[in-house]
Amino acid sequence: MGAQQGAPAGAQQVAERFAELYGARPEGVWAAPGRVNLIGEHTDYNDGFVMPFALPHQATAAVSRRTDGVLRLHSADIEGGLAGIAELPLDALAPGSDESWTAYPAGVVWALREAGHAITGADVHLSSTVPTGAGLSSSAALEVVIALALNDLYALGLPGWKLARLCQRAENVYVGAPTGIMDQTASACCRQGHALFLDTRDLSQHQIPFDLAAEGLRLLVVDTRVKHAHSGGEYGKRRAGCEKGAALLGVDALRDVPYAGLDAALARLGDEEEVVRLVRHVVTEDHRVERVVGLLRSGETRAIGPVLTEGHASLRDDFRISCPELDLVVDTALAAGALGARMTGGGFGGSAIVLTEATDVDTLTKAIEEAFAAADFTPPRVFEAVPAAGARRLV
Ligand code: GLA
Repeated sequence: MGAQQGAPAGAQQVAERFAELYGARPEGVWAAPGRVNLIGEHTDYNDGFVMPFALPHQATAAVSRRTDGVLRLHSADIEGGLAGIAELPLDALAPGSDESWTAYPAGVVWALREAGHAITGADVHLSSTVPTGAGLSSSAALEVVIALALNDLYALGLPGWKLARLCQRAENVYVGAPTGIMDQTASACCRQGHALFLDTRDLSQHQIPFDLAAEGLRLLVVDTRVKHAHSGGEYGKRRAGCEKGAALLGVDALRDVPYAGLDAALARLGDEEEVVRLVRHVVTEDHRVERVVGLLRSGETRAIGPVLTEGHASLRDDFRISCPELDLVVDTALAAGALGARMTGGGFGGSAIVLTEATDVDTLTKAIEEAFAAADFTPPRVFEAVPAAGARRLV
């Protein structure tokens, strides 16, 4: 069945562009969102807890199957119409062979085939509204939308968490970025109006209702416009340091260090100053996720603010992955009356989140914009985040 009239506006546009490019309407149109992480940073590759929610910004893909072993990829962001179509023979897909945007969708096809799924080709047209390099998981959105489309078209029957694992493999092995499982699971599994409390050890999930508007609250995302990249060395160094900490403490992962035993664990690490800082962040951050879940479950939403702010201090001082722009957002927001604020995502740039009373949104936004102007930083992009739907078929 081809994509039908009456589809959501974005889906219709993507389907029409697909038809112009490939000469026939697509078999379907899928969407997968970006995310912000409320709390639980750099815990996912330590088998710990995270709590992201989906953004309304999403990657949309129009897709049809092919039978000749060829993957054709086109992005709305690339000029050149037909000339902009990348044509990749499936048998030639190999990790590390591609440094452009096509590595994300191609990596997913590679991972599916590696896992034994008989994908025989596809025509794809992609369009995304997730800002890139902003710490909002634009790459996970691209990966998950392709995985879901092929899962449906090839009737693979894989659940969301398995698609997320395959997408993570595409990113780790094919693209070469040593990231955890949070972003892909968020994109695949989040639900509208909820934050996802995820245990990254076994991928068990709890959907926690998160309706800030009903309580007169807002969550602002402030994109500092400082671009970050996880295939660069710093993310990998933090990850290696955490693994060293787990090895020194004789546990499988830092998740296994109980919060109550943190001081004793740190004492055992002796003069390994850097490892001490990394371990302290991860163990306290897992605890912060549990505290936020507890507060949300008991309806004490305003009380999560200070926990978010503690998380920022830990990422800045112990994990050392903040930057002047992120610190300025947090300091300015708190000085102007925010309930809590912290950087979100991998760090070294990207975005911060600010929890505030609805009535203070304009004052806070103005304060942050003025502080950036005074510091001579690029103007930030500020928007309100409302938990949106996870990946789904649109047409
Ligand atoms: C990036 C990675 C995630 C996670 C976060 C930090 O977004 O892709 O796996 O590690 O950084 O929490």
